[in-house]
Amino acid sequence: MQSRNVKGTKDLFGKETRQFQFVENIFSSIAESFGYQEMRPPVLEHSEVFVRGVGEGSDVVRKEMYTFLDKGERSLTLRPEFTAGIMRLIVQNKLYATETLPIKAYYNGPVFRYERPQLGRYRQFNQFGVECVGGTSYFNDLETIMLGYCMLSTLGLTNVTLKINTLGDEASREAYKAALKNYFADKVEGMCEDCKDRFNVNPLRILDCKVPEDQEIVKGAPKMSDYLSEESKERFENILDALTQMEIPYEVDDTLVRGLDYYSETVFEFHYTSKKGVNYGAIGAGGHYSNLVKEFGGPELEGVGFSFGEERIVSVLNDDELLNELNEEGEVEFYICPICEEAKEAALALSVSSRMMGARVDVNFEGGKLGAMLKKAVKKGALYAIIIGEDELNKNSLQMKNLVTEEQTELTVSEYLDAIKQMQEHDHECHCHDDEDGCEDGECCCHHHHKDEGDLN
Ligand code: HAM
Repeated sequence: MQSRNVKGTKDLFGKETRQFQFVENIFSSIAESFGYQEMRPPVLEHSEVFVRGVGEGSDVVRKEMYTFLDKGERSLTLRPEFTAGIMRLIVQNKLYATETLPIKAYYNGPVFRYERPQLGRYRQFNQFGVECVGGTSYFNDLETIMLGYCMLSTLGLTNVTLKINTLGDEASREAYKAALKNYFADKVEGMCEDCKDRFNVNPLRILDCKVPEDQEIVKGAPKMSDYLSEESKERFENILDALTQMEIPYEVDDTLVRGLDYYSETVFEFHYTSKKGVNYGAIGAGGHYSNLVKEFGGPELEGVGFSFGEERIVSVLNDDELLNELNEEGEVEFYICPICEEAKEAALALSVSSRMMGARVDVNFEGGKLGAMLKKAVKKGALYAIIIGEDELNKNSLQMKNLVTEEQTELTVSEYLDAIKQMQEHDHECHCHDDEDGCEDGECCCHHHHKDEGDLN
């Protein structure tokens, strides 16, 4: 019996699942505050969706896809990314005809790539991303970058480097590719196997080579900026000016070309080095695309988007100790201990009323000694144990024991429910903008996202 998980995949449980949920909840609420709605395309698509969408010149399509024939001999692929599937969804459902443009979609789920597993690199990993499709202004690129930046700062990630570049429009790119072919023609023989391959399929990708000797050769290569059309140049300058105005720090990186084929004009990546000095590389990346919707048989609509790698985000949050509060939170707040058989029904009823009010509650139906039950309550991280015995049953009351101070109070059921109500109200109050209780810049104790500019700084 094979009883181990597949190489490059990961079991998520316990605290780690909560960490993913925490990140996903913050990302979705921020995306919604920017006017995005969730889309859930299937994990399985016809292989052409990616071969056409992601591009035959990309490593993802050529080497990394999980593609197989199903029992009906159809070639299917486990999605290696979301963008192409979202375009297929938009075109198939003709959303461009029924929705107000631009269509703004966010998504979240597993993607699959056959890559060599290593730190921050899996074969099944989770992406959270957005696509803004059908706008015409470069402001959509800007707003998208701002959204990504805002998501990362809300999580408390302060050491983000935004790397940005332009690939220009199609004509600029073709002229540049020709210049690169010319430059590398007599050098490529001495370069790595991947570069030889890239020379034929997509010479832009040679710029991305990580082999030190090849990087030396790349240094002398022609620059994209010398091949940009006036429009592309102006568009990029406008974007950089606006980023400066909005105080979003960036680094122009003219070797940033991205691994997927569909990009034109702006491309960007969010890089992160944790406080301990671990370089996680790109924790998220994206860019602008002009032809994708049309390639799927839709109208000529441009789009822009990005995806975050959730495993990498959760790792940097742990490394930078930004999840301590969440990690310390117990599995439940209340642990109800009926200490006789007769009290179990009352305990169940009480748990339901408490849960309906939003409290996180567990009940011990297994019986046993009170001491053992209290130990379980502590292990679950509960703040209070609620004890019900014969006496309490007769009086319609309960004992509420604070597990930190060990203080115990007898309350009637309705007093207890009032106390829960107050606690829940307190938990949902936000003190971020109170002077006394105020949080540090960009951090919010209630994890609410606030739409004012303060969040960006
Ligand atoms: P990508 O750069 O291929 O872009 O992936 C986005 C992010 O997914 C990366 O920045 C990285 O954080 C994470 N990632 C990639 N591969 C792995 C892996 N093997 N293990 C763990 N994490 C990984 C896209 O997927 C585009 N669809 C982004 C986009 C959206 N462009 C426009 N719209």
